[in-house]
Amino acid sequence: MAVIPVAIAGAPYDVRIEAGLLASAGKHCRPFVRKNRVAVVTDANVAAQWRETVEASFNAEGIASHWLILPAGESTKNWKQLALVVDWLLTQEVERRDNIVALGGGVIGDLTGFAASILKRGCGFIQIPTTLLAQVDSSVGGKTAINTAAGKNLVGAFHQPSLVLADPLSLDTLPLREVRAGYAEVVKYGLIDDPAFFDWCEVHGQELLAGDPTAREHAIATSVSAKARIVAADEKETTGVRALLNLGHTFGHALEAETGFSDRLLHGEGVALGMILAARFSARQGLMPSAEAERIAAHIGAVGLPASLAGLGLACNGRRLADHMLHDKKMDAGTLPFLLLRGIGQAFLANDVALDDIAAFLDEELERT
Ligand SMILES: NC(=O)c1ccc[n+]([C@@H]2O[C@H](COP(=O)([O-])OP(=O)(O)OC[C@H]3O[C@@H](n4cnc5c(N)ncnc54)[C@H](O)[C@@H]3O)[C@@H](O)[C@H]2O)c1
Ligand SMILES: [Zn+2]
Repeated sequence: MAVIPVAIAGAPYDVRIEAGLLASAGKHCRPFVRKNRVAVVTDANVAAQWRETVEASFNAEGIASHWLILPAGESTKNWKQLALVVDWLLTQEVERRDNIVALGGGVIGDLTGFAASILKRGCGFIQIPTTLLAQVDSSVGGKTAINTAAGKNLVGAFHQPSLVLADPLSLDTLPLREVRAGYAEVVKYGLIDDPAFFDWCEVHGQELLAGDPTAREHAIATSVSAKARIVAADEKETTGVRALLNLGHTFGHALEAETGFSDRLLHGEGVALGMILAARFSARQGLMPSAEAERIAAHIGAVGLPASLAGLGLACNGRRLADHMLHDKKMDAGTLPFLLLRGIGQAFLANDVALDDIAAFLDEELERT
């Protein structure tokens, strides 16, 4: 089992990664559970696949688990479901020193974590992430949130979990498209500051997607170590270090916005293409060799993630895509803060990228065959 400590001052915790952890969740949660009962929040898809296993593991420890099963999907991260979760936890008589369990993907983790942050002014919670995205990204670092009419993740809190249990076997029931989308965030860690890990992805990425548990465990552990290091250095995104995690996300969000945040383009798919665009834009600015940008594009394409902007078939121009970026970024005199690359494993925050240059670059990419 890999155990990755997350050294947040005042709220340190471990991420445990091992095939079969769902079946031993009760044993791992035991020291965090009081009164031999635990409240579990999950969604319908996850419950259908994994409730029996997890419930049996709690029963084996003499812990009674009480379950709230929410509808699956991004739209569950809203005010109404938040109120429902909080009211339900109150009927469960959860107290401040209790730990609620969030079993599911990023939607369940973000919503349950936020509920935990406000229940009785903050109670504990345990993340049991069941998507690759949640295992390598959203379950670690303490960002919790819901979406509102004004946009995604605009209401939330920093609230760190007490424990994270990532079971690579849980991905066996996850649709391949979702596994691939999560894999984009795995590649991201290589591109940020770990070129050797990008090399590893080129060799072993396909094995991970095919279900190889060793490859999955290695990728999750390496990704979590990277995220743990970054969030421990900048828990609340004040120094700019944590911003590195947004590599590919400004382009990605623009693509998600243009496709209506729908199934047409999953978040990780937008990030995959966004990282290629960040690399090619960096090459165009003379910051990195073009051959390295194309190496990134080749790997992303090889694993079946979207690697061509033209291939999305968008009916818009570069200006329109660039304008989407204004909504999620602070613009200052026509320039944007932007994550660019000096090479594979050398991401940095540039503060002076001109939106006009981005628009012109995107026009070229929309034409590229
Ligand atoms: N807090 C953070 O730092 C952070 C970081 C990145 C993303 N996020 C958030 O994460 C969310 C996306 O997370 P996600 O991609 O995990 O989406 P998700 O939670 O919606 O899960 C994707 C789909 O897979 C299903 N599913 C989950 N686990 C399964 C399993 N093991 N077997 C079968 N089906 C399963 C879900 O029911 C859902 O239909 C977004 O809301 C995003 O804002 C948060
Ligand atoms: Zn992301």
